[in-house]
Amino acid sequence: MPNPSLLILAGDGIGPEVMAEVRKVIAWYADHGTAFDVSEDFVGGAAYDGYGTPLADETLAKAMAADAVLLGAVGGPKYDTLDFALKPERGLLKLRKELDLYANLRPAQCFDALADFSSLKREVVAGLDIMILRELTSGMYFGEPRGIFTEGNERVGINTHRYTESEIARAARSAFQLARQRGNKVCSMEKANVMEAGILWREVVQKIHDTEFPDVQLSHMYADNGAMQLVRAPKQFDVILTDNLFGDILSDAAAMLTGSLGMLPSASLGAAGPNGYPRAMYEPVHGSAPDIAGQGKANPIACILSFGMALRYSFALGAQADLLEAAVNKVLADGLRTADLLGPEGGTPISTSQMGDAIIAALDTLV
Ligand code: NAD
Ligand code: IPM
Ligand code: MN
Repeated sequence: MPNPSLLILAGDGIGPEVMAEVRKVIAWYADHGTAFDVSEDFVGGAAYDGYGTPLADETLAKAMAADAVLLGAVGGPKYDTLDFALKPERGLLKLRKELDLYANLRPAQCFDALADFSSLKREVVAGLDIMILRELTSGMYFGEPRGIFTEGNERVGINTHRYTESEIARAARSAFQLARQRGNKVCSMEKANVMEAGILWREVVQKIHDTEFPDVQLSHMYADNGAMQLVRAPKQFDVILTDNLFGDILSDAAAMLTGSLGMLPSASLGAAGPNGYPRAMYEPVHGSAPDIAGQGKANPIACILSFGMALRYSFALGAQADLLEAAVNKVLADGLRTADLLGPEGGTPISTSQMGDAIIAALDTLV
């Protein structure tokens, strides 16, 4: 059996910096019996610089053929003035759409050692373990009509919030399946009070629940209240199911519960790919962080934990994923912190590559 294949798309800004640390982790696993065939290509601004487009057809073909894609981050001020279609973010969105990665899993877990660092009180976040399932290939990000048009003597910007029943149903199924492996609770968030697409969302989620997952506890919440509840009492949630745009915003809010955006991994999953593994892309929730890029300050943990999610969700290597999470836990418990994880009391931060090395050292002590 050949090794499963990984395509690394490190992207822009801190993307390549954090991905360098993931490569160390991949090499460590290869030395310990879990090997992957790794290839690499450009995406985002780096692809624009190299190929004149944020996602080349050849790169998309490689992503289609890979068993999983690991992505760093895309974007940056250098590309802000490009035409809309050439912007780095279009490359990322095209990958998600073409691979049909409709289920975006964004866990927010509070590591014990960071509970005091959250902007919320320790008792509100200690032990937090929630999972946001963000629908990723439809809704406001992709609905037609869209564009900037002229109406009379002024321009109008249009995006369309559109969901079909089958798009809602498949995201809902993913959420209910995940809940069964966790706390068995799903809270679905929309704005059925003001949006027709929200009314349909609520109806379809309820129907999938009643007919296929009656054993899972389901509740519905308006997304604005959901944002408030996430900050007030986040531990009331297990799985949160929501659409593309609300999920984007709610997952950034959830990130801060855990202490830093630099801690949060994600998995984007679709239907079965060529070798029976699901089509999948793993990426940190954070972006290219232009403000700290090139300074060795970025926290690589989100990207490293994204590789952990690949172990768990693409390759059913749950024990290996647990080991990686334990190594991250140990490093944090030992008090090692990148700059984003230092509280107001300060301390001396370690660099991106020192954090990667510390995680490798922790892996060594744990096997
Ligand atoms: P960002 O996530 O890049 O940064 C927000 C803040 O968090 C910054 O202060 C940054 O320094 C900090 N931060 C982020 N990741 C960090 C890490 N690993 N370690 C330490 N600090 C970290 O969001 P932004 O500034 O709104 O966007 C910058 C660019 O990234 C934009 O072009 C945006 O479109 C893009 N972006 C890309 C992705 C992605 O590739 N998936 C996600 C979000 C934003
Ligand atoms: C994310 C990002 C992306 C999104 C951008 C960069 C396209 O914010 O992954 O959360 O809006 O989905
Ligand atoms: Mn986002």
